[in-house]
Amino acid sequence: MTELDVRLTPDEAARALREEAAAGLADTPKWLSPKWFYDEVGSSLFEDITRLPEYYPTRAEREILTARAGEVAELTGAAELVELGSGFSVKTRLLLDALRPTLRRFTPLDVSESALLAGASGLADDYPGVQVRCVVGDFTQHLGALPVSDGRLVAFLGGTIGNLLPEERGKFFAAVRESLRAGQWLLLGADLVKDPEVLVRAYDDPAGVTAAFNRNVLRVLNRELGAGFDPDAFAHVARWNPEREWIEMRLRAERAMRVPVPGLGIEVGFAEGEELRTEVSAKFRRDGLERELGESGFAVRRWWTDSEGRFALVLAQATG
Ligand code: SAH
Ligand code: AVI
Repeated sequence: MTELDVRLTPDEAARALREEAAAGLADTPKWLSPKWFYDEVGSSLFEDITRLPEYYPTRAEREILTARAGEVAELTGAAELVELGSGFSVKTRLLLDALRPTLRRFTPLDVSESALLAGASGLADDYPGVQVRCVVGDFTQHLGALPVSDGRLVAFLGGTIGNLLPEERGKFFAAVRESLRAGQWLLLGADLVKDPEVLVRAYDDPAGVTAAFNRNVLRVLNRELGAGFDPDAFAHVARWNPEREWIEMRLRAERAMRVPVPGLGIEVGFAEGEELRTEVSAKFRRDGLERELGESGFAVRRWWTDSEGRFALVLAQATG
């Protein structure tokens, strides 16, 4: 049985985009948050990214899940798997398979209804006895809407934790902790600090898929706000920030321009070479992440990496 629970309606999402674009496009430097990438086209472009030879995180995390899903199942004995930012829930099947003996409910939550529904289709048939409850929502806002339940395991895979700014991350971990009883579990995928050349290549692939994903946010603004962005007038930029230890994706105006945004009743000016930040993708070190989790009421029970030490899968338990 599959249910759909809409916590973020299209109207609410449109209002949130208006508010954020009004703030981010008026700021210096200009910024937008990465959740706006993921309309139907953006979600599908992300899936293309996961298949690129340069984009190692998905393969590395899959390698760890393949080796460790059994241990996750043994340690947690989870009855409910909540997956945040689930997208198409591709790797999740490794967990669902391992959890078969104990799992009663699967609750994927994502802003992208198209990805959620595509991911959930077939799950009810493949996992009879597991209730699938898709939640359209924002994981920075709607975790309180998840009713407390027995045997909960929250999974946050893919390294999406790195797409939150540090101050958002603290609030997010606290909200995840609130959604759990003491003794319940968080399974977190985190990309690790490594050679900047490897990182930049993963975010600036020669086939231009990541560039198309980045520019897609301008198409979202054009559609949702009637904006007049010419995506081809912006260059894709992926840069390593060694102080913050994150990859920053930006869109650089190739010429000076004024862009009408009727949905906000404004015109936005860009100088030639001016950059709009569209995403950060933070990379982690073990001590820092363990400390942050500890400060939010979690104890790290397992820290697994892939064979090349590029990516970590962390199993943490809510402390009481
Ligand atoms: N977990 C999948 C997908 C990662 S892509 C994987 O590991 O491959 C990031 C996912 O998070 C997308 O599906 C996107 O729609 C979702 N997302 C991004 N920001 C979000 C937010 N604020 N709230 C809910 N979902 C969000
Ligand atoms: C979803 N998230 C973990 C991806 C990342 O690697 O930060 C999004 C992405 N951006 C560019 N490529 C992939």
